[in-house]
Amino acid sequence: MSATPRQDLDTVLVLDFGAQYAQVIARRVRECHVYSEIVACDTPAAELAARRPAGIVLSGGPKSVYSAGAPTVDPALFDLGVPVLGICYGQQLMAQALGGEVARTGRAEFGKTRFRGSADSELLGDQPPEQTVWMSHNDAVVAAPPGFRVTGSTDAAPVAAFEDAQRGLYGVQYHPEVTHTPNGMSVFRSFLARTGARPGWTAHSVIEASVDAIRSRVGDAKVLCGLSGGVDSAVAAALVHEAVGDQLTCVFVDHGLLREGEAEQVVETFGLHSRAKLVTAKVADRFLEKLAGVTDPEAKRKIIGTEFIRAFEGAAAEHAADAKFLVQGTLYPDVIESGHGTAATIKSHHNVGGLPEDLGFALVEPLRWLFKDEVRRVGEELGLPADIVWRQPFPGPGLAVRIIGEVTGERLELLRAADAIVLAELRRAGLERGSSSSEAVAPSDSIWQSFAVLPAIRSVGVQGDERTYGHPIIIRAVTSEDAMTADFARLDWDVLERIAGRVINEVPGINRVAYDVTSKPPGTIEWE
Ligand code: XMP
Repeated sequence: MSATPRQDLDTVLVLDFGAQYAQVIARRVRECHVYSEIVACDTPAAELAARRPAGIVLSGGPKSVYSAGAPTVDPALFDLGVPVLGICYGQQLMAQALGGEVARTGRAEFGKTRFRGSADSELLGDQPPEQTVWMSHNDAVVAAPPGFRVTGSTDAAPVAAFEDAQRGLYGVQYHPEVTHTPNGMSVFRSFLARTGARPGWTAHSVIEASVDAIRSRVGDAKVLCGLSGGVDSAVAAALVHEAVGDQLTCVFVDHGLLREGEAEQVVETFGLHSRAKLVTAKVADRFLEKLAGVTDPEAKRKIIGTEFIRAFEGAAAEHAADAKFLVQGTLYPDVIESGHGTAATIKSHHNVGGLPEDLGFALVEPLRWLFKDEVRRVGEELGLPADIVWRQPFPGPGLAVRIIGEVTGERLELLRAADAIVLAELRRAGLERGSSSSEAVAPSDSIWQSFAVLPAIRSVGVQGDERTYGHPIIIRAVTSEDAMTADFARLDWDVLERIAGRVINEVPGINRVAYDVTSKPPGTIEWE
């Protein structure tokens, strides 16, 4: 188990019985400004105690507590005198470990469910007596452990919540961490109040801690950072600049595959005269040469990845040959997931933050404790422009994977112009994600990514009494919480109509607009 970014922060440890659930729980706790860290579910109680946690949360998980090989907890953790909140599988484990009973009742509950809570519950007492919660379970606690009070039920789960307030042990069968449970945050607030944890986790304290850590790691050595135009590399660079100023050199590889205006904005924000020393490698022509005639998506990705590293190394050798450290934009979910084995490769990802480790530098990873929404908060606090802080995720290979078939200068221009209209109209309709500092986590119905795709087909149309044989553009807009799954956005017809009208009128060569109504799975967000 690794140390927290700051030893003096009150911490809630989340025991992970199913990665997705645990991450969302940790995010919710941190939204209450209490530092939260995810740890392996089989961590011995003594090791947990050594971290002196203010509270412990047991996450949900996909197994049955009584099935062979199901993950379990060290039962000694319930005797540490530390408040524990069990959620779903976590509640069932608590019940099983402390003498209650868990069974397959034959009455599963999935999705929105009516829940009745007790007014005198320490955890739920400030909530409406009846409310909607989000459930996802086959098994249920059928008898609370001795000493526990039942504090909530549903039609199918007679012990949907229980607590032993004296020992600080609480359990809920439903998922307070998901946005479909409207009063979910209140569960975390009540639990955190029981833990007495001080809310020390703020963008300001993250910056302070990172700046100290970067300074002590780097000393007076030179540091190199690749800028991609995205929020992660921008915030990482700004943090390192805050820590070591002119020791930092930023390298921006302008490969000509960014969206309209983005390359200019990177240069403006990080230009020589504003924040940090910036070197721009202008290599768009070289990228187009290398991509000429290439149509296979994986081949494109490989070429871009290789050329990117070449350009980055060239610029680094020329302008910062004495740099010892390289900034990586690794985020907390990458850190957690690397401890959980890797999923099958669907696309070979190219990521500026993920320059290969064998470039021969020591690494500085200022974002490795942060979730994406926290990176944005830190960016805001550091004074980065909203356009960068709230920018949508963008693939490393850029517009090349949104152009089906060959990438040419002409096709790039078509796509870029259409794409700018898509974005501008969604922004005008108030549908672009983020841009509000009160939005901690993207609500499930806000747009995660929206862009245009240029397919490798043409179609017949008629414009001004003339037959046209032009290019179609496909609009892709998805809602998502983490890009692992996504749904196509239910865009208003009027918005789609406005986009289509503008694209066809303003981008010569495009005569048709289609909307992609595929979710992920079975589709992916990008087309290649
Ligand atoms: P897919 O298309 O796999 O994308 O559903 C999931 C998310 O990842 C982004 N993406 C990439 N990001 N390098 C990146 O840094 C890449 O090579 C890459 N390919 C896809 C995509 O935009 C979406 O947010």
